[in-house]
Amino acid sequence: MELEGRAESCQGRVTASLAGCLLIITNLTQLIYASQPFGYDSIILSSILNDARRCNLRDDITGALVCRHDIYLQLLEGPYEPVTAAYMRICRDDRHAGIQKLVSRQVTSRMFGEWAMLHDPAKSLVWTRDQIADGILDRMSPNDIVEMFESVSRNAGPEHAS
Ligand SMILES: Cc1cc2nc3c(=O)[nH]c(=O)nc-3n(C[C@H](O)[C@H](O)[C@H](O)COP(=O)(O)O)c2cc1C
Repeated sequence: MELEGRAESCQGRVTASLAGCLLIITNLTQLIYASQPFGYDSIILSSILNDARRCNLRDDITGALVCRHDIYLQLLEGPYEPVTAAYMRICRDDRHAGIQKLVSRQVTSRMFGEWAMLHDPAKSLVWTRDQIADGILDRMSPNDIVEMFESVSRNAGPEHAS
């Protein structure tokens, strides 16, 4: 009996350390930022989404872009190096301003694995324009921001297809 018990706890440790290894092997990063659109209309938005999807298909990046005339909130996920490189290009893009990184974390699975860049016209955005202007994002925890994207992912339907 005692031997059995020891074997079980040993197995538990092996599983735990394997899970740790998986985190390193996947090298999967999620990065979320917010910014303010500089010029916002359907032509600019389609050109941003076209650029994003073209580059992301090439770079094995997936994610979602929540868009409203007063805010972009974007989640990028994929291998660390291409995600970092895409974020650096995005920071240099003059189609938006005031870029603010909100979350950067390692993950074991993708939230938007089927989308080169899901477009969410901010239906799931609970904050008003005044709250955003008042800096509500500075007071949100990274968990709150991640939860907002989890809700986008749960509600994603075919109309969001990339
Ligand atoms: C709000 C916003 C979101 C963007 N999202 C992405 C993206 O997900 N991936 C990407 O590669 N480029 C994205 N871009 C476009 C990049 O800024 C850039 O134009 C593109 O990566 C091509 O870079 P290059 O012209 O240096 O080749 C985005 C731009 C904006 C303004």
